[in-house]
Amino acid sequence: MAILVTGGTGYIGSHTVVELQQAGYDVVIIDNLSNSRIEVLDGITRITGKRPHFEQLDCCDKAALQEVFARYPDIEGIIHFAAFKAVGESVEKPLPYYRNNLVSLINLLELMPEYGVRGLIFSSSCTVYGQPTAEHLPVTEASPIQPALSPYGNTKQINEDIIRYYIGSGAPVKSVILRYFNPIGAHPSAEIGELPIGVPQNLIPYVTQTAAGIRKELRIFGNDYSTPDRTCIRDYIYVVDLAKAHVKAMDRVLHTPEAEPIEVFNIGTGHGVSTLEVVETFERATGVKLPWSYAPRREGDIEQIWGNVDKAAKVLGWRAEANLDDVLRSAWHWQQRLQEQES
Ligand code: WQD
Repeated sequence: MAILVTGGTGYIGSHTVVELQQAGYDVVIIDNLSNSRIEVLDGITRITGKRPHFEQLDCCDKAALQEVFARYPDIEGIIHFAAFKAVGESVEKPLPYYRNNLVSLINLLELMPEYGVRGLIFSSSCTVYGQPTAEHLPVTEASPIQPALSPYGNTKQINEDIIRYYIGSGAPVKSVILRYFNPIGAHPSAEIGELPIGVPQNLIPYVTQTAAGIRKELRIFGNDYSTPDRTCIRDYIYVVDLAKAHVKAMDRVLHTPEAEPIEVFNIGTGHGVSTLEVVETFERATGVKLPWSYAPRREGDIEQIWGNVDKAAKVLGWRAEANLDDVLRSAWHWQQRLQEQES
């Protein structure tokens, strides 16, 4: 039984491929390498001892996608990561985001019944909740979906609706939608991790690059929020814990008859952590002093969000296990490995 992982050389995709292989699944990766490197396959192979099948293609190319399904008839399930995901970029260039993120999913859904592929795990995001109101914190899967704050977030909302209506039309497909909070950290082997291209937008790669002296100083965006220490709050989830949630979801969608045709789960730790707490925890966990200063708020940032993750525990039998100190140490070890490779 094989699992097709689109975007499988990406950050979350590569960690998920490792966990799938270690759970006994064969994996076929497709990726257009627009935001990842082919060398990630070597890292995966060094961890698991099994080189995943790899096909370089764009999921928007339906003919090429069809050939992959024909070439690997034992594909039973799909985990769909491949998407553009830079919030700020999506505001500047919305149309490529709508085309890429919607057409790639539609192609997969159209091909699934033709090749007997029964299960789809979709990579969604807590961004669909927007800024929850106080009574909706921590957010549950039933919390209101609010107007998207970016085309990126809107594509996630639309993709969820496309899956819901397609399955509702009677398609012979089951789906689990995973709404991630903030994935961070790297595999404990330091063989794979986050590979930001250019100046990192996300907090943790910027922290580790500052700690490594690549960036002069970390700017904490905003210290005038209505939070205990006045900085933003997020739910930072270890990428390996997140990857394990995908294996649980795939098991459910392929091997659990009582699973509903479509199920949605928050995948986070259930705890909110502020930007300042991340900085202080990183310094304590690694012993590395971080130069930082406060800067004005970043356009588009929400103030605070963290997840109620009881449903995933109850239904998937999954909970985040890692503690923040270990996760931040894993990010730092990965950064140091990157320096060694580049020196
Ligand atoms: C986290 C916090 C910043 C950088 C985004 C997407 C979300 C998901 C995860 C894809 C915020 C603060 C950051 C810096 C800072 N992506 N920050 N200085 O914006 O919560 O979520 O990435 O699925 O959909 O929206 O993540 O890491 O950019 O920011 O102070 O240099 O760190 O203000 O509060 P974000 P982030």
